[in-house]
Amino acid sequence: MTAEAGTPSAPAAGRLAGVGVVVAGGSRGIGAGVVRRFAAEGARVVVLDVNEPVGLPVAGFVRTDVSDEGSVAAAFAEAAAVLGTVRVTINSAGIHHLAPVVDTDLATWRRIQDVNATGTFLLTREAGRHLAAVGGGGRVLNIASMAAKQGGANEVAYAASKAAVVAVSRVAALEWGCHGVTVNAICPGYVPTEMGADTRTEEDVARWSALSPLGRLGTPDDVAGLLVFLASEEGSYFTGQAFNVTGGMAMH
Ligand SMILES: NC(=O)c1ccc[n+]([C@@H]2O[C@H](COP(=O)([O-])OP(=O)(O)OC[C@H]3O[C@@H](n4cnc5c(N)ncnc54)[C@H](O)[C@@H]3O)[C@@H](O)[C@H]2O)c1
Repeated sequence: MTAEAGTPSAPAAGRLAGVGVVVAGGSRGIGAGVVRRFAAEGARVVVLDVNEPVGLPVAGFVRTDVSDEGSVAAAFAEAAAVLGTVRVTINSAGIHHLAPVVDTDLATWRRIQDVNATGTFLLTREAGRHLAAVGGGGRVLNIASMAAKQGGANEVAYAASKAAVVAVSRVAALEWGCHGVTVNAICPGYVPTEMGADTRTEEDVARWSALSPLGRLGTPDDVAGLLVFLASEEGSYFTGQAFNVTGGMAMH
């Protein structure tokens, strides 16, 4: 655990003043945007990631592979040692792969499920165990994808893994509502991050932008804004949902 991975967390002010938050996959992309936004709301954020966060306002970082059971358990315990109570757990760790169904090999399929589906299960389970022990309720917010709802050509492994993220979130929501714990999935559309950057063309950006009635792709901040709302008191009556953050690319 390093406590100096970036500027110390913001002083206790804002909608999430002093709240302990774990963000898996918080070193880059959408997760990094989430870390910034939560810290700006006064939350104390510990990042779990395979890569170290650079210049982010974190209270701590634990190198973690979310697909590894022991790694997740040890990391969550370290985060809880820093934060006291982990009131909000966010899983933004994920990997992507583009290939037609007929060209998707089993090793790739399994790796995508391991990180995206199993990683979500392991982190959600750890959060649930922690919140059961400390009491007082909490939030689990898992980043799925629009692909969970409508698939996506050449995304068979990814779309299946993200459907699992929604399913894990719904089951946990059913089981933990009685303890005041809400669990939701968030389904972004297209957010230009490092994910997919190696295959992204200008034509892709134009084509995807045109699918949104708003005419643009998403930003990490578009996702982070919803997460802050769901983590706040105003978000207490939402559970078991799969929220689109797609600029209207998906409407169900
Ligand atoms: N970018 C998009 O268009 C988009 C759309 C829908 C859903 N999503 C989902 O949002 C989440 C964040 O995506 P992003 O665009 O920020 O991607 P990204 O590649 O920019 O960031 C992913 C983060 O997860 C971390 N990570 C990867 N494998 C890990 C592992 N095994 N253990 C721990 N950390 C790991 C990476 O180090 C990185 O910090 C992912 O779950 C992704 O599937 C992204």
